[in-house]
Amino acid sequence: MLSIRRTDSHFPASVLVANVFSIAHQIRPMLASKLPRIAFGGDYNPEQWSPEIWEEDMRLMRDAGVNLVSVGIFSWAHLNPAPGEFTFEWLDRLMDLLHENGILADLATGTASPPRWLNHQFPDSIPYDRTGRPFHPGSRQCYTPNSPSFLKYSRELVTALADRYKEHPALALWHISNELACHVGHSFGEADATAFRSWLQQRYESLDALNEAWGTAFWSQKVGDWEEVLPPLQTPTLGNPAQELDYRRFMNAAFLAQYEGERAILREATPDIPVTTNFMGAFKNIDQWSFVDSLDIASWDSYPDPAEARTSLGDPFGHDLTRSLKRQPYLLMEQAPSAVNWRAINRPKPPGLMRLWSYQALARGADGILYFQWRQSRAGAEKFHSAMVPHGDTRVSRAYREISELGEELGKLEALVGSTVEARIAIVLDWESWWAIEEPAKPRQFDYAELVREFHSMFVRDNLPVDFVHPEGDLSPYSLVVVPSLYIVTDATAENLTRFVERGGKLIATFFTGVVDEHEQIDPRGAPGKLRELFGLWVEEWDGCPRGETGTIAFDDGMTVSTSYLHEVLQIDGARAWARYGTGFYASQPAMTMNQVGEGLVYYLGTRIETEYLANFINLVAHDCGIRPILRQQEGIEVSIRMKGDQRFLFILNHRDERTIVDINPYCGTDLLSELFCRDQIFLRPYDATVIELDDDES
Ligand code: GAL
Repeated sequence: MLSIRRTDSHFPASVLVANVFSIAHQIRPMLASKLPRIAFGGDYNPEQWSPEIWEEDMRLMRDAGVNLVSVGIFSWAHLNPAPGEFTFEWLDRLMDLLHENGILADLATGTASPPRWLNHQFPDSIPYDRTGRPFHPGSRQCYTPNSPSFLKYSRELVTALADRYKEHPALALWHISNELACHVGHSFGEADATAFRSWLQQRYESLDALNEAWGTAFWSQKVGDWEEVLPPLQTPTLGNPAQELDYRRFMNAAFLAQYEGERAILREATPDIPVTTNFMGAFKNIDQWSFVDSLDIASWDSYPDPAEARTSLGDPFGHDLTRSLKRQPYLLMEQAPSAVNWRAINRPKPPGLMRLWSYQALARGADGILYFQWRQSRAGAEKFHSAMVPHGDTRVSRAYREISELGEELGKLEALVGSTVEARIAIVLDWESWWAIEEPAKPRQFDYAELVREFHSMFVRDNLPVDFVHPEGDLSPYSLVVVPSLYIVTDATAENLTRFVERGGKLIATFFTGVVDEHEQIDPRGAPGKLRELFGLWVEEWDGCPRGETGTIAFDDGMTVSTSYLHEVLQIDGARAWARYGTGFYASQPAMTMNQVGEGLVYYLGTRIETEYLANFINLVAHDCGIRPILRQQEGIEVSIRMKGDQRFLFILNHRDERTIVDINPYCGTDLLSELFCRDQIFLRPYDATVIELDDDES
């Protein structure tokens, strides 16, 4: 279990069950016991359709191999048309129909989108933007999780739902809210200000401590009374970075409390039914690590752009991240069957691409493939978004045909359920650093996700399995840990990384790591602060590199490599320089260093080095750790291995829109779809994917 920094919420403890976490690990098999197959289905919004259509839906679902649907995600107004009034009859009928047809329900709590009456009758539910202006009802997610009315009425709905369906045989999974903080990640109204003050009072206890943590001696910002504390509303110039960071923590805690409040109600009614909420991959507003302990199954929504299919390789980042949350199988809760409708230009997925990206989810550890949505809407803001059952004649629709073919194939992949991806490499990903490093007024503007992605895509390209890990998370499964620009370093992080290296781990850290503590304050000894001994250096100055400009570094053997983004002027204090700057007033000073600590080694990169060299470098370090790629790298080919007991499944994915031959030596085994024996070379059609159960005896 990860040890994470957790900020207590300001919500009444009575609705939070203190120790529900320990049973989370037993809950996953509970889904498998109801659904021992790859889950397959999508968001089902029957309230948009008449009951005759429901009958047709059941038939089409059965024909397509659908076994799990997410119901009621946006049904609050249909289930609870006025305060205290519930209309469950339609959902009763629907749940019965699902059960009669052998389809399970991922039953949503419906709290992602409040009904109009809530905003109208209880204005504290309305969210506000940073300028202090209210949002208006008429879309979705029009609420702030800091609203007492929102919490009261949403929990009333969840309680009624849980009570009504707790024994329903179709119920297999609970789905809390939907993409928490997706549209309104931060709200700046009166309800938020009140809740922020009490969160700060719990965190700091006194105004002196708050003033100290926020560094309010600067620019005459001293807070003399709790009532003077506001959310970080629009200011004349730069705001207080520590206040901004605390506000992000506070809003994250508010969404977590919303989630945990609903979960406690569900857990009490149905101790054996797992609970999830669908995340959004690399999404900045929600610190997914903070949810790990109260998630039974991780799930997420993936929407890579088909227009970028040639270069993006789908979305391996989001898959690896979601799998890493619990280091267990997860669900791909939503993907588009074909086009979305929310980009400026929307391209459909050409034949084969939907199947390929579904296999990518399986390859990287998912036990379920679901879509948004089952039947394409006729009205509303998403009527041009593709669906499993599109407008027109289903019998001849390409989307439904491809869906049904995939549904049938998944029936042959039961053996995968419960298998996992084992990685010996991890990338440290920290939401708090993400929030803080992207605040303005630094040596340059940072894009944290881009820096993290750069490493991740190299590991993917080179067929090296990789996890993500929280900075204070368990590093014992890993031999190589990469720490890209980890701006905030706490005592616990410093200890964790140091222990990892002392015990023989290899660490690669990059520029702008360890610059501040958890209050956004710089260590008087300069960066990397608490990691100074571990890295054996300190940073004297930063030189932000304008876009388009590059510098160089040179190695002892004369080789030079180009650099960009940021150049750190390093002072060595124990480490050894192995590359030096070739440009700038700091030419000939160290740019890349290594430091032996205990049994392990730290590599420090004081600048961003060109991708080709970086890829070679990380491969060499991985090799040095005894980590070998699953297969030799081949452009556009993704490979992965899932394991369960002594079974191993090799996935090979062709992201190219042309026929490709892949050399699979030294592996051999049985293709789970064709049941043919494979060795040496396999042929893949454009956008094809295959799964081979490996034999033991590969050389
Ligand atoms: C997701 C959302 C769905 C639907 C979908 C469209 O972000 O959860 O409800 O809006 O996008 O792509």
